[in-house]
Amino acid sequence: MNPFYITGIVPEPFFCDREKETCWLVQTLENKANVLLTSPRRMGKTQLIRHVYAQPSIKDNYFTFYIDIYPTTSLQELVLFMGKEIYSSLVSKGKTFIDRFLSCLRSLTGSFSYDPASGLPAFNVKLGDVQSPELTLQEIFKYLEQAGKPCIFAIDEFQQIARYPEKNVEALLRSYVQQMSNCQFIYAGSNRHILENMFLSPAKPFYNSAEQMYLDRIPKDVYVDFAIRRFEDAGRILTSEAANLAYDLFEGHTYYVHNLLHNAFAYLDPHAAVCEQDILKTLSDLLDEKDHAFSAIMNRINYQQKETIVAIAKEGKAVGVTSVAFVKRHALKSPSSVQYAISSLLDAQLLTYETAGRVKIFSVADRFFEKWIIQKY
Ligand SMILES: Nc1ncnc2c1ncn2[C@@H]1O[C@H](COP(=O)(O)OP(=O)(O)OP(=O)(O)O)[C@@H](O)[C@H]1O
Ligand SMILES: [Mg+2]
Repeated sequence: MNPFYITGIVPEPFFCDREKETCWLVQTLENKANVLLTSPRRMGKTQLIRHVYAQPSIKDNYFTFYIDIYPTTSLQELVLFMGKEIYSSLVSKGKTFIDRFLSCLRSLTGSFSYDPASGLPAFNVKLGDVQSPELTLQEIFKYLEQAGKPCIFAIDEFQQIARYPEKNVEALLRSYVQQMSNCQFIYAGSNRHILENMFLSPAKPFYNSAEQMYLDRIPKDVYVDFAIRRFEDAGRILTSEAANLAYDLFEGHTYYVHNLLHNAFAYLDPHAAVCEQDILKTLSDLLDEKDHAFSAIMNRINYQQKETIVAIAKEGKAVGVTSVAFVKRHALKSPSSVQYAISSLLDAQLLTYETAGRVKIFSVADRFFEKWIIQKY
């Protein structure tokens, strides 16, 4: 069995580190504070939340809920996602819990049916059934307040609510959250800029309403040690140089390092020690595998976007992208064309950026794509 999980929930012995973060999160939630959790994409937010939920002091004492609202574009969908999540978490707890929940959802009463086999009501509510989302939302919050156990509700990709066409969603949610004494919220997301703006500007409804955590890479010594041990447990050898190289190739960006080692574990000769050469070969195979998908992206974007993303990939972390120097260095058309291309590439989530003071540092969002571009162009 491959100890480097790249899909699903990473179970305990294969979950690496995050000890400090887990401890802080558990304590903060137990102290009844809400949390804003941000990180670059694929650094490990979702896994961390799942890991926190699996801690005995949380698992035994709380109802925990988790939704990823990235696909949602309206309050109606948010309400549906919340309702479905609560229902499906309660199913295993039995009829009493489900009945309690459904009896709160008066606005949806007509939409439940009973499964004759189990005798349990089925939550087959459709989007169109949520006709008064504000009312249903109120009922959901009412339920959370009297669920019978304290609750923790994580809403991942929370910045999405800023895009809903309904103008008052932030204020509406905030007004409910503020009144809750039985439910803590974890707001998570990778769009640090939008999220911080929601929580740090005094004019915004969520201002100052959550404790903040920024999730960074796992420290190198910890990850390298973890990786070597996972090979050892399987009776195999990963050399320290190879583990260090895997980490450095992606500067410790969790998912990419992990995926690389997943493939190394899966495809290399189990009887030979894995050394640096093998890691490079694994990476090159991995990029070959993705060749078709990456080519399709390049095929879809226009020339200006292409030359801009290539320039940024080559710099790795690009600053001053609309300066004359940057434009000259990469033989681009003009600062304004770069600016335009960048804004559409950000929208398409092909680029990402972090800020250091007032400086924006751009990079290619998918680190494999970045490596592929460098190789091809
Ligand atoms: N602590 C960990 N131990 C082992 N693997 C991890 C850990 N954290 C993250 N991973 C690996 O990285 C992958 C991405 O993690 P996760 O989905 O939690 O990131 P994310 O920050 O939520 O990403 P996104 O922004 O795309 O939602 C996981 O599928 C897993 O392979
Ligand atoms: Mg996630």
